[in-house]
Amino acid sequence: SVAAASSADDFVRCLTTAMPSQLVFPRSSPSFASVLASSIRNPKFMVPGTARPLCVATPANASHVQAAVLCGRRHGVRLRVRSGGHDLEGLSYRSAARAGDDAAFAVLDLAPGLRAVRVDVEAGTAWVDSGATVGELYYAVGKASGDRLAFPAGLCPTIGVGGHLSGGGFGMLLRKYGVAADHVVDALLVDARGRVLDRDGMGADVFWAIRGGGGASFGVVLSWQVRLVPVPRVVTAFKVPVSVDRGAVGVLTKWQTAAPAFPDDLFVRVLVQGKVAEFQSLYLGTCAALLPVMRGRFPELGLNRTHCREMTWLQSVPYIYLGSGAAVEDILNRTTSLAAASKATSDYVREPLAGAAWTEIFRWLAKPNAGLMILDPYGGKIGSVAESDTPFPHRGGVLFNIQYMNFWPAADGDAAAGTKWIRDMYAFMEPHVSKNPREAYFNYRDLDLGQNVVVGNVSSYEAGKVWGDKYFKGNFRRLAMAKAQIDPHDYFRNEQSVPPLVASN
Ligand code: FDA
Repeated sequence: SVAAASSADDFVRCLTTAMPSQLVFPRSSPSFASVLASSIRNPKFMVPGTARPLCVATPANASHVQAAVLCGRRHGVRLRVRSGGHDLEGLSYRSAARAGDDAAFAVLDLAPGLRAVRVDVEAGTAWVDSGATVGELYYAVGKASGDRLAFPAGLCPTIGVGGHLSGGGFGMLLRKYGVAADHVVDALLVDARGRVLDRDGMGADVFWAIRGGGGASFGVVLSWQVRLVPVPRVVTAFKVPVSVDRGAVGVLTKWQTAAPAFPDDLFVRVLVQGKVAEFQSLYLGTCAALLPVMRGRFPELGLNRTHCREMTWLQSVPYIYLGSGAAVEDILNRTTSLAAASKATSDYVREPLAGAAWTEIFRWLAKPNAGLMILDPYGGKIGSVAESDTPFPHRGGVLFNIQYMNFWPAADGDAAAGTKWIRDMYAFMEPHVSKNPREAYFNYRDLDLGQNVVVGNVSSYEAGKVWGDKYFKGNFRRLAMAKAQIDPHDYFRNEQSVPPLVASN
């Protein structure tokens, strides 16, 4: 409509007066498409049918972000905040809304201009901007500390700090140190009124909420102060594939109760694909110390000295995610392939599966258009934190997390067969996984779990509970009350943002 077009123009004009115009890319800019695509990880959202933002802005400091929020509110334009662009449903750069109020949005991309990492080795802390990648954080921490300190977060080096830390964040150190959000000690947030708030300024409930409840519901997190964790100079990694023919079902059946009970220094995950279960491990110590633990606790895997790869923790990051040929510097590379589109979802397992169920799972993995499963064992530190300490509620009693992933060539667009396999697999798994609610990990976002319904220009709390209980269990209500404190008018909203709830007691 004419009114919408003029408010869009007014918004872009407002932005270009408040921040350098070369940092604002309206649709008419020759760089618009490349800036928008710069950190997109799922090419299925780059098709012509995807709603495009009015512009992409790449702020270089807090005042640019404040201005974007104020211009957006004044002219009725919502913001999608993007740090690393890894959102599995693309919510940091696309809107599912085709029309109406929520269809007009701009992208605030923090990756180009807000990505500094400052490590304080003495204090064992770091300040990291949201637009940095976890690879940049790991590199800075490992180098500055002479391989003595680490940070416990995800495996993929190109994940953005902003989305990852605000949604939980876990990787190979989760049994020793829990989730990334457990290690946040301060943060700077730009709220819907355009204020910059630190931990004290935002208040205890909002500071609690942004550590696992997803940043996008509460404002724009500029940067995070995190507590670093000690690691030994030598760690040991291994990858041991076991095929179905060589007893994968039996080894997996044992793994699901053994791995969550290992000493905290030992983490053994499984990538299950086709007819093979690959056991991938990080042990915080030497091979000589690892072998007796494995022989005593998990002899079924048959681990021996030839499987061990000793290295520094920093070297383990590229080794595990990029393969044995990768160098430490490769985790600084932000460009990743756009060749494959994907669909993912997740589950939590609290009761071990019977061997027959694993046999059946391998049948599913052998079907045409099948994807893969990644099993991350819990227990240890991640399981010892109380469910309400952070919004991330998957703690005591969880045996392992399942991530289901499927890929197909980008040229096939939103390939129906690959998506259908995920949905059918998810239906098949229902009797084997957590119930009431069926838990899911927020950072493995799946819009199939439910989407917001906007009533009277505010997202409905009742509708939000459908997906909110799965991601957050009993913490969803407190998240909704924190939302009401910081953003009562629901300016920062998307298809799965926390709705504001004003307590009526
Ligand atoms: P992106 O920029 O897309 O943002 C994700 C969400 O957070 C969006 O809603 C966005 O608006 C919001 N947001 C981003 N920055 C914000 C900010 N500064 N302030 C407020 N809101 C903000 N997870 C895991 O725990 N362990 C793992 O090992 C992996 N591995 C992995 C591999 C690959 C290839 C992918 C694609 C994803 C993962 N993940 C993962 C999931 C990952 O943790 C999740 O997608 C994160 O939200 C990604 O954060 P980004 O900043 O990259 O995403």
